[in-house]
Amino acid sequence: DASDIEKGTYPHYMLKEIDEQPLVMRKIIQKYQNDQGELTIDQEIIDAMNDADRIYIIAAGTSYHAGLVGKQFIEKMAKIPVEVHISSEFGYNMPLLSEKPLFIFITQSGETADSRAVLVQVKEMGYKSITITNVQGSTLSREADHTLLLHAGPEIAVASTKAYTAQIAVLAILAEVTAKSRGIELDFDLIHELGMIANAMEVLCDEKEEFESIAREFLTVTRNAFFIGRGIDYYVGLEGALKLKEISYIQAEGFAGGELKHGTIALIEEGTPIIAIATQESVNLGIRGNVKEVTARGANPCIISMKGLESEGDTFIIPEVHELLTPLISVLPLQLISYYAALHRDCDVDKPRNLAKSVTVE
Ligand code: AGP
Repeated sequence: DASDIEKGTYPHYMLKEIDEQPLVMRKIIQKYQNDQGELTIDQEIIDAMNDADRIYIIAAGTSYHAGLVGKQFIEKMAKIPVEVHISSEFGYNMPLLSEKPLFIFITQSGETADSRAVLVQVKEMGYKSITITNVQGSTLSREADHTLLLHAGPEIAVASTKAYTAQIAVLAILAEVTAKSRGIELDFDLIHELGMIANAMEVLCDEKEEFESIAREFLTVTRNAFFIGRGIDYYVGLEGALKLKEISYIQAEGFAGGELKHGTIALIEEGTPIIAIATQESVNLGIRGNVKEVTARGANPCIISMKGLESEGDTFIIPEVHELLTPLISVLPLQLISYYAALHRDCDVDKPRNLAKSVTVE
């Protein structure tokens, strides 16, 4: 049938979509480039960014996790304060808004009811909105003032993979173009860095056996697994945990490394897998210290670090990329490890129990 054709030689859509990520990166660079080879975004969107005194990112699930990374980009590059909110909470628990808020909805499907409910509310209040989505003509795209497309191609697997990295890349471009419009000089060339990201993604996609064996070693018999990181790595850990729990049904949580000692460390038992992400120089010592703390209490550490920051005994070392953009790369091992963990446990990878691809009920 038609779905077989689309999957091609892949056993699952999820694996195909993970593999498509380098291509999607290149497509995004191409789509957001002008004839002069510069990144470009509709002037009305950039004006809306510059008119705002604060940006509110609203999203659910994986898109929320991309929003957390996007906050870093917009604050660090364009210097506009950003809050990130879960859409299902924001509706009835709205924070005190700034004077000139701008709302950015991140939604792969463009159909998430929780996010749409917030859009309806803020429109009624007279505020401007941008939807970042993979689906042109989707509800949130039609109802917002502006749309930025992900150009990731249809995502069929319930577990979002290429949409997450596409969201992060588009948010980086939005931050960069906004920064330039404000006369802020950046010390790196985003087009070049995203090209490097695409190359690094390709390298990781060729390491599937490695991730299959990591999944076998750490996640075959366990009932839980914890992801730890600091700063931007913490956000990627949250996404890694969501991927793992939704498709393998292993109870997984992401924690900020420094927060472990405030309670979570009580959960560590002999053999508990801890997946630590270490891609940030400024917190490398700190996260290494956290790994020591849990290892001393019996945990089985799986350390994913970046070239240049690696230590002896690290489980996997990702290629070196720009420090702001590491989530685009560090998430790939987590996606693949989750995929193989689910496969080893005979789970229905593309259609996990109790879940739908787009959640159209509040
Ligand atoms: C991701 O793997 C999930 N299946 C889910 O969390 C998803 O990201 C969430 O429902 C939001 O969907 P959206 O991006 O289409 O709005």
